[in-house]
Amino acid sequence: MVEISRTSKKNPFLTTNQRKNTTFYFKFFLSASLSFYFFTFFLLTHNPNLGLIHHHHYVSNSNAFASKALVQSEPNDFKLFVYDLPPEFNADWLSDGRCGGHLFASEVAIHRALLTSRVRCMDPYEADFFFVPVYVSCNFSSINGLPAIAHARPLLASAVAAISREFPFWNRSGGADHIFVASHDYGACFHAMEHEAMADGIPQFLKHSIILQTFGVKYKHPCQDVENILIPPYIPPESVEESVVHGRRRDIFAFFRGKMEVNPKNFGGRFYGKRVRTLIWKKFHRHRRFYIKRQRFAGYRSEISRSVFCLCPLGWAPWSPRLVESVALGCVPVIIADGIRLPFPDAVDWPGISLTVAERDVGKLGRILERVASTNLSTIQNNLWNPKNRQALLFHNPIQPHDATWQVIRTLAKKLDSSFRSSRLPNQLKNDT
Ligand SMILES: *[C@@H]1O[C@H](CO)[C@@H](O)[C@H](O)[C@H]1NC(C)=O
Ligand SMILES: *[C@@H]1O[C@H](CO)[C@@H](O)[C@H](O)[C@H]1NC(C)=O
Ligand SMILES: *[C@@H]1O[C@H](CO)[C@@H](O)[C@H](O)[C@H]1NC(C)=O
Repeated sequence: MVEISRTSKKNPFLTTNQRKNTTFYFKFFLSASLSFYFFTFFLLTHNPNLGLIHHHHYVSNSNAFASKALVQSEPNDFKLFVYDLPPEFNADWLSDGRCGGHLFASEVAIHRALLTSRVRCMDPYEADFFFVPVYVSCNFSSINGLPAIAHARPLLASAVAAISREFPFWNRSGGADHIFVASHDYGACFHAMEHEAMADGIPQFLKHSIILQTFGVKYKHPCQDVENILIPPYIPPESVEESVVHGRRRDIFAFFRGKMEVNPKNFGGRFYGKRVRTLIWKKFHRHRRFYIKRQRFAGYRSEISRSVFCLCPLGWAPWSPRLVESVALGCVPVIIADGIRLPFPDAVDWPGISLTVAERDVGKLGRILERVASTNLSTIQNNLWNPKNRQALLFHNPIQPHDATWQVIRTLAKKLDSSFRSSRLPNQLKNDT
């Protein structure tokens, strides 16, 4: 509600566009309060155990943060140089239309957003950080359509060879102020299967750099044994807007659509999703309150926007694009992936907007969700409706205040001691950040 008083006052520093947006924002909050009012009313007059949740107009107005105070806090207190690599390292891959939009496409989105960002500098001698734009996730297999990443290590190695030959910056820091994106399953280990990823480890030449990666766990793991920033998987922001189903309540109680093996294949003692998904299928696909589907369906995001709870069980890796899709579409993510580390914990109120269920408790999901539906569901949904959570998980081009690339920049600003240039500046300048 603070936002209402802040944004409803006419602010002379806002552009017309921003003013339009803040007016919208005001309406957004007004409608949120009204929906909440009607929702409360609904609960008072209906049996809350029905779990029929009033659907909120979950509009993705991502410019909503463009209030003056927030724009001023946009991080711009360091400089970043983006290497202009030959097209075989990046632009060439975009000839495949899937390259910029699939779940690993943050490598493309972050590059694009940085090119027009306020932190970018054109003179590398002024730079605190160096971004190395290599797209490694766009070599889609002609057999299964999944990105083959066997070429990732050699491709990155030749990028590093090129920049260390032509510029002095890699050698002077050993790569410590250089930034790479490793957005697929096991991050900088560049393998989709955990045991092989762990055996390969992070390539020696990347071990001193800063890796932006989707993979993260709370325990020691060779694939995050590097300076890293956890980033969300990529979801095209326009797909969020397209999938909003307006003006209807959430008629699905608990939703999951995705790969679930009825008889899981044994890969040397390892099973997809540690068999958690198989258990979900066996136990809940006939359950009257669960909507569980194994077939692919292109319109699954509109199902998310119709759902109260969205299950986000681990696959091969603990993270999943469902986490972002659920938050963006206002469905409470139910995270089932022991030890997962979640992106941007300072910006996203994960404990307030999600539920975490231990892998071993997955059989009790029915009871757990019923209990939440009859106790604190409205609190969680209210937290989820705060657009700051969704904003931090989406990559926009150009950068928008508080979006995912903005969060990366803000996190980098705290790592200036990794920068060759900054670590040689007088201390008072460094502490200024
Ligand atoms: C793409 O992946 C396939 C299969 O791993 C590999 O044979 C091919 O060399 C890769 N292409 C490039 C350009 O690296
Ligand atoms: C950086 O180091 C490598 C390996 O020692 C060397 O081949 C290269 O010439 C150096 N680059 C520059 C710009 O001095
Ligand atoms: C809601 O209740 C569940 C237990 O039923 C608890 O685990 C969760 O942390 C609560 N969430 C919030 C935001 O209060």
